[in-house]
Amino acid sequence: MRTTLRSTVVKTEFPAEIMAKLDQGSYFVLDRFKDKQKLYCLAREVILDGIEKIAGTECRRLVERDGLCNMHHYFPVDQLADLDLFVKGNSCIKEVILQLSFNIGRDDLRIPGQFFLEENPFAFKISYPHRIAMQSRVTNAEYHQKYSKLRKKIALQEKRKLELRQKSEDWRDSNRNNLLNTLKNFKQITAEKFFELIKLGSNQTLQTYQGFDRIANQPYAAKVHQPHIDSWYGAPLGGISLWWAIEGATEDNGVVLYPDFFGKAIDFENLAASSSYLPFGITLTKPCKIQVKNGHVLLFKYDMLHSSHLNISDFTRVAIVAQIYTQCKFNPDSIHERGTGFHSSEDIASGNWDHLVQISMRDNFGVLYEGRQKPHVEKRISVRINVELVNGIPICLCDSTTLSLGDKMLVRLQNKSIIVIRTIEGLRAIDAICPHMGINLIDGFHDQQNIYCPGHAVAYGLTDGSSKCDFLKLQVYRADDREGKIFLQKL
Ligand code: FES
Ligand SMILES: [Fe+2]
Repeated sequence: MRTTLRSTVVKTEFPAEIMAKLDQGSYFVLDRFKDKQKLYCLAREVILDGIEKIAGTECRRLVERDGLCNMHHYFPVDQLADLDLFVKGNSCIKEVILQLSFNIGRDDLRIPGQFFLEENPFAFKISYPHRIAMQSRVTNAEYHQKYSKLRKKIALQEKRKLELRQKSEDWRDSNRNNLLNTLKNFKQITAEKFFELIKLGSNQTLQTYQGFDRIANQPYAAKVHQPHIDSWYGAPLGGISLWWAIEGATEDNGVVLYPDFFGKAIDFENLAASSSYLPFGITLTKPCKIQVKNGHVLLFKYDMLHSSHLNISDFTRVAIVAQIYTQCKFNPDSIHERGTGFHSSEDIASGNWDHLVQISMRDNFGVLYEGRQKPHVEKRISVRINVELVNGIPICLCDSTTLSLGDKMLVRLQNKSIIVIRTIEGLRAIDAICPHMGINLIDGFHDQQNIYCPGHAVAYGLTDGSSKCDFLKLQVYRADDREGKIFLQKL
């Protein structure tokens, strides 16, 4: 077993201190665990069954022949949402994931004492290459409507939830008018009120979540997550994420971790009004783009800041994410209600898969970020100049001393925003706005060669503005020091 932190591949047995290392912000790729092959084949089989049901036997044959990582050649992008729902509604996959999580918690992590697994134990996403995903006409809003129905259907299948649902329906009927008024003032509502709204599972709730609004009409197939911490979405504190690569997870389409942010107290009080992602204005640390081989599991702790990498590869990535909780305390600031039913490891060990431990979020808030430092907020250097950048005319930005080696500066002109960076080899200037979703790169990490988009980690070369992806390219400019001033002009 190699023991370098943060990229360790665990070959055989976990040392006792592995949990402590996860607690300190390390991450690990687990390449062997009990029943690995059997569980992997079962999960893959469920996906292939879904492909066959939705797109026919010939499609399945072709995907089996060329691999799920090439399924975008055969399976229509517009039907990805249906496939997602097929898998999420499948009871076999739920058991597979519970078993996998239990095996890893008990045998590999050797968690002392009892631990918990969520009743609906996983997130699942098939990520097509972005250029193909963008062609889909099925929007996030349409997908969420269907998903909401599926969740209700699953819940209704389980008798124990009927009563809860009924209460929720009654509450909705008697409060419909109040609700509509509250929704109009959504920006001002507190997390406590949001719990009540979210309980309805109604479309209105989704539509008022502004983070969602921004992407509601974008293709579901092209959805990617910006940096976040899972407890912001209501996942219990103390969780260990199991990011299980089913197929095709490369550095250019997989998960991105920000381990240098680990253990920092990140403010997100404005999330209700924007999105449950890292607020703008905090400069990100170096993104770690993780390649996870088929069937391997990446492990990291719940408060690891992470995002999806925009899929700029030529491969489809299929991954399942589950979590193990060593305790069930919740983030008091989360605006998303999660949980109630958890499987305990003791129940699973004794073969009791039906019993659920009821742990309500509202009665079990934990302490968030106790004794933790706020992240370092890089001093923002910016200039605003009320002129347009036109061919052949240099613009004087500021004194050369404004920008030390390694600094970057946001330059706001009338017709565009540009970032100027001082590298060892001189000044570099590049467009500030990422063409993917229009996020400003000023919050991104940069080194001597690249600036990384703080949204989905695409790296842009500072000398030519190119990325690994043809259609994501930024314009670069000429910036130089002359007579103690920094000048900018078109190339
Ligand atoms: S890569 Fe998504 S906004 Fe830049
Ligand atoms: Fe996440």
